[in-house]
Amino acid sequence: MTAAAEQSRVWTRKDLIGLEPLAREDIEMILDTAPQLLAVSQRESGIKKVPLLQGRLVVNWFYEPSTRTRTSFELAAKRLSADTLTMNVSTSSAKKGETLHDTLFNIEAMHSDIVVIRHGCAGAARLLAENHPSSIINAGDGAHEHPTQALLDAFTMREHIRRSRQDPNATLDGVRVALIGDIAHSRVARSNIWGLKKLGASVVVCGPSTLLPPHIEKLGCDATTKLKEAIDGADVVYSLRIQLERQQKCLFPTMREYVRLFRIDNESLKAAPPHAIVMHPGPINRDLELSSEVADGPRNVILEQVTNGVAVRMAVMHLLINRPAFDTA
Ligand code: NCD
Repeated sequence: MTAAAEQSRVWTRKDLIGLEPLAREDIEMILDTAPQLLAVSQRESGIKKVPLLQGRLVVNWFYEPSTRTRTSFELAAKRLSADTLTMNVSTSSAKKGETLHDTLFNIEAMHSDIVVIRHGCAGAARLLAENHPSSIINAGDGAHEHPTQALLDAFTMREHIRRSRQDPNATLDGVRVALIGDIAHSRVARSNIWGLKKLGASVVVCGPSTLLPPHIEKLGCDATTKLKEAIDGADVVYSLRIQLERQQKCLFPTMREYVRLFRIDNESLKAAPPHAIVMHPGPINRDLELSSEVADGPRNVILEQVTNGVAVRMAVMHLLINRPAFDTA
């Protein structure tokens, strides 16, 4: 991209539904906006806030359990000086049969600006985005996409590559990422594949054949059932949670066999290059997909992912609300 084109890059989208529809430039715009916002949270003195969303209302609307993502969005909104509201789904009118649309029309009657939604059905966020004026952020729709998780993952990978290569402009071009575990039920895997491919990385997915969706290679990644093969040469070993709540029946014979063949631990990591980092989106099933020695050890960057998540979500909310095409009058 030329310097002039680079300068004229502007964010024009109202919503963030997934990484599949985004261009590399869109993803990079978010990643490049995050560092200044990370610095806000890291201020040692003074106020850990900026007024970029002052007077705006951000609504958190989670139909599925969440610790990291919900608190991260809430904190991100607060650090941008927005007002925040959390919908308690278990006590809301959804329990009385109200549709998603009707609930959102009512929230919008109270002038919401951003609605962060997590829902068990793929497509829920998109359905709302296409029919409502609020900016909708998909915080996970079924096994489909979880775009902000993949954005914070890409940001964390890029920061690590930049530090280890001592190159502040290094990109993810040519970086090899191995996604290990329950690929079939993972929206994190799907968003990571879309995002990382656009950023020039190569992706290999690995797990028991029952947890690898048929034709996953069509998304542009490699697939294998052999852990050693997947992590040999990987710059990033990304362990995914076994999503027992989404599996209709047990898709591998025993936990013990899964551990033996697919767990990321000091033994299996011997196949990875010494510089490889270990990531996980959380929550971890300790000692199932990831051993405690690795989860608590020096190679993992799991808490760095969490820290970066707030900054990346601040960047997303700032771009959606302060986009030039948006009439702020
Ligand atoms: C992920 C999710 O909910 O999809 N977690 C998260 O958002 N941090 C992954 C998972 O639940 O395994």
